[in-house]
Amino acid sequence: MFVTVETAARTAPATVIVAIDGPSGTGKSSTSKAVAAKLGLSYLDTGAQYRAITWWMLNNGVDVQDSVAVSTAAAKPSIVSGTDPAAPTITVDGADAAGPIRTQQVTAAVSAVSAVPEVRALLTELQRTIAATAARGIVVEGRDIGTTVLPDADLKIFLTASPEARASRRSGELKGKDSADLASTREALVKRDAADSGRKTSPLAKAGDAVEVDTTELTLDQVIECVVTLIEEKRTA
Ligand code: DC
Repeated sequence: MFVTVETAARTAPATVIVAIDGPSGTGKSSTSKAVAAKLGLSYLDTGAQYRAITWWMLNNGVDVQDSVAVSTAAAKPSIVSGTDPAAPTITVDGADAAGPIRTQQVTAAVSAVSAVPEVRALLTELQRTIAATAARGIVVEGRDIGTTVLPDADLKIFLTASPEARASRRSGELKGKDSADLASTREALVKRDAADSGRKTSPLAKAGDAVEVDTTELTLDQVIECVVTLIEEKRTA
């Protein structure tokens, strides 16, 4: 039996590219991972990549407040992201960076590093390549995915939540690892969001065609269900 190219293309499962943006503590990572796992898609945490490059800068004596020094060094580390939603990985020059990129030191420095245009250009390129080569499609989470990295994504979601809800979720995540209390977590989070939203190059922003989901009053399962439904609607449209 002959299968023409046209038939094969029509019967192959369509890939789907989903962009999930929003500030920290809105449930982006948990939602994105669970949605990707449910639908058999790849998953990319772009925040982890910005954290990885920041970790490398801190380890290599680069002054993260010096944008010229950061831009000069930006291409030096090799950052590799594993995109299995059940076990996402991130390495820097071959070393596992999943733990160290979550320290307070990296969190405090990441906004400055991610505001540097050369850093953004390099990571945007890497993110586009990863998305383009995901066989069945991908859920990509970040701050500028719908606006800059993947403006042609099939579906764009912008997650929001009140600062109180975001701070209490983050404090929960940090329990046992850090003694930051709710008030200081809220303050640090609001400060980081302001820096991420206020930077010149591709700031945290909702794309004009993104669907906004306010997660303040929703459980994680409800948010996951909502996003899965939106993707399925797109796929059958
Ligand atoms: O999602 P996260 O909190 O791990 O992200 C860490 C930082 O990385 C965040 O403060 C802003 C930056 N970031 C970015 O500038 N663009 C992205 N697409 C993702 C993250």
